[in-house]
Amino acid sequence: MKYTELGLINTDKMFQNAIMGNYAIPAFNIYNMETFQAVLNAAKISNSPIILGISESALKYMTAEMLIGMIRGANITPDMQIALHLDHGTSFDACRHAIELGFSSVMIDASKLSFDENVKTTKQVVDFAHKHNVSVESELGTLSGIEDENTFSTESSYTNPSDVEHFVKQTGTDSLAIAIGTSHGAFKRTSATQELRFDILSEITKRLPKFPLVLHGASSIPEHLVNTINEYGGNISGALGIPATQLRRATEMNICKINVDSDLRLAFTAAVRKSLAENPNNFNPREFLSAAHTAMTDVCLNGIKNIMGSENKR
Ligand code: G3H
Ligand code: 13P
Ligand code: ZN
Repeated sequence: MKYTELGLINTDKMFQNAIMGNYAIPAFNIYNMETFQAVLNAAKISNSPIILGISESALKYMTAEMLIGMIRGANITPDMQIALHLDHGTSFDACRHAIELGFSSVMIDASKLSFDENVKTTKQVVDFAHKHNVSVESELGTLSGIEDENTFSTESSYTNPSDVEHFVKQTGTDSLAIAIGTSHGAFKRTSATQELRFDILSEITKRLPKFPLVLHGASSIPEHLVNTINEYGGNISGALGIPATQLRRATEMNICKINVDSDLRLAFTAAVRKSLAENPNNFNPREFLSAAHTAMTDVCLNGIKNIMGSENKR
């Protein structure tokens, strides 16, 4: 199916506007009805453009039929500025499948391959995607943490600024995810003073002026959510995210897409744990899932208003 039939748009105009306006488009990962409704609700309340990130494992979990059925059921229109994006696509076939399903944007993450293989695979995806007017994100450098249920990287390597111009020119990619010290999951930093590598980001923006850059692993890991989880029986001590101040600084340096998954996972889990603990006689899932919906909407709204700066940008 063509994504326009679902009322979706690709990310081209979104990113141009974000670059010019020094803000970022939020990309929230979704994997069921509650996450989808919470993200959609926040986008509506805040008038923000939004990217719905779907990982390969989330697609497997939901099934393509359920995902596309949900998207169709939401009656999305182009003025809502919503993109459906494959997050961390691992192969050309995964990207092609997503495009054929109705995705308006895909990420080909060939960053673990050699530079030349990364160029080759990314270009293959770009050539196919552009025939369908679908935007392509690719990656240079490696983030540590969980990227997919099958992929866990303990190694991280910063993006080498001297590679970026060649890569963008050779591949025709529409945006580039870079590694400047973020990582996936809830344990991003070992000390509260640790900073992102703004020196690397600055070198990259000098070489790629006005080119859309993407920050993965950019959850802030709100302390109150971690505390709630731990208070109600969880154990995720030591979790530390990227401070909002650093993320805002990045949006002024061509970071125009910020990926957030873990913050929503924390909000979901904290709300369910609290609701069940406070209502031990409840066995109606709609009650604790409503609490999760509210908590995730709050996380999205906080990100949109206080970090990405995308409120009222559509
Ligand atoms: O960056 C990756 C996301 O956090 C997706 O994770 O494959 O468990 O859905 P997932
Ligand atoms: P977090 O784990 O920081 O939420 O990162 C999500 C992400 O990068 C999805 O691609
Ligand atoms: Zn990611």
